[in-house]
Amino acid sequence: MDKLKSTISNDFHSSKMSESDFKVLSEFIYKEYGIKMPPSKKILLESRLQKRLKANHIDTFKEYCEYVFSEKGNETEIVHMIDVVSTNKTDFFRELAHFEYMNEVLLPSFTSQNSNEIKIWSSACSSGEEPYTIAMVMSEYNLQHSPINFHILGTDISSAVLHKAENAIYAEDRIKEIPHSILRKYFLKSKDLTKPTVRVVSEIRKKVAFCRLNLMADNYPISESFDIIFCRNVLIYFDRITQEKVIGKLCEKLKPNGTFFLGHSESLLGMDLPLKNIKPTIFKKI
Ligand SMILES: C[S@@+](CC[C@H](N)C(=O)[O-])C[C@H]1O[C@@H](n2cnc3c(N)ncnc32)[C@H](O)[C@@H]1O
Repeated sequence: MDKLKSTISNDFHSSKMSESDFKVLSEFIYKEYGIKMPPSKKILLESRLQKRLKANHIDTFKEYCEYVFSEKGNETEIVHMIDVVSTNKTDFFRELAHFEYMNEVLLPSFTSQNSNEIKIWSSACSSGEEPYTIAMVMSEYNLQHSPINFHILGTDISSAVLHKAENAIYAEDRIKEIPHSILRKYFLKSKDLTKPTVRVVSEIRKKVAFCRLNLMADNYPISESFDIIFCRNVLIYFDRITQEKVIGKLCEKLKPNGTFFLGHSESLLGMDLPLKNIKPTIFKKI
């Protein structure tokens, strides 16, 4: 009975985060990863980190801070911590206007210049829906035109979402908005009817390479430059100075005249960047 009581109380017990623990954690998360954690996010941070305390058999946030910032801690725990604090909402064919622009304007311009290779970077790719959508758009274009070879890099700070991206298995309700013609070609249905999932076909999967990259890092460990960079719906987590710094570094990896896509609710207004706005949230490197 005592054992049962203690199990129940452990399950319902949740540690409170003090102001000073919040300050230490939020300042670290902001400084190293650019993710804003204003005081209004304290409850969110506290509740999201409860499972990390539990996983590490730690009772209080004070001990958790000591563990995370100790010598023996803790690159691994920091990766887990960032996994739980980042927000990874995404979708296939999200913000469709960008893919229409690719198909109707951008790719024809590569065809007319006889370019036969394109490199594309999805720089906050979450669980893979964005880079796989790009690969599907490219494949569809190639069916109708002289084929352009393409390579896509997907990067994100969260190793949990990257793992999901590499597996490329999604719940069936994630694809209900996708037209049938695309579904038939690029997704395979699982045979398990109790757990309806789909998997992106290998022809598309093998066009995308994934790796972990912190957009806040001083140097990006990427030697190549890209024709197209997607940086969508990640800037909202950064303050303005960080946004300008991150985009400036992404621009260093964009070829002259390369195209930069930003999330629909994001803006670069007033920033000093080598980008020219050609359509809402679409830019060219100058
Ligand atoms: C809301 S999702 C956007 C996904 C996709 N680009 C889209 O528009 O659908 C934002 C992604 O940014 C990632 N992220 C947050 N901070 C980051 C950082 N410092 N470096 C790289 N990725 C980061 C998160 O892990 C998350 O997967």
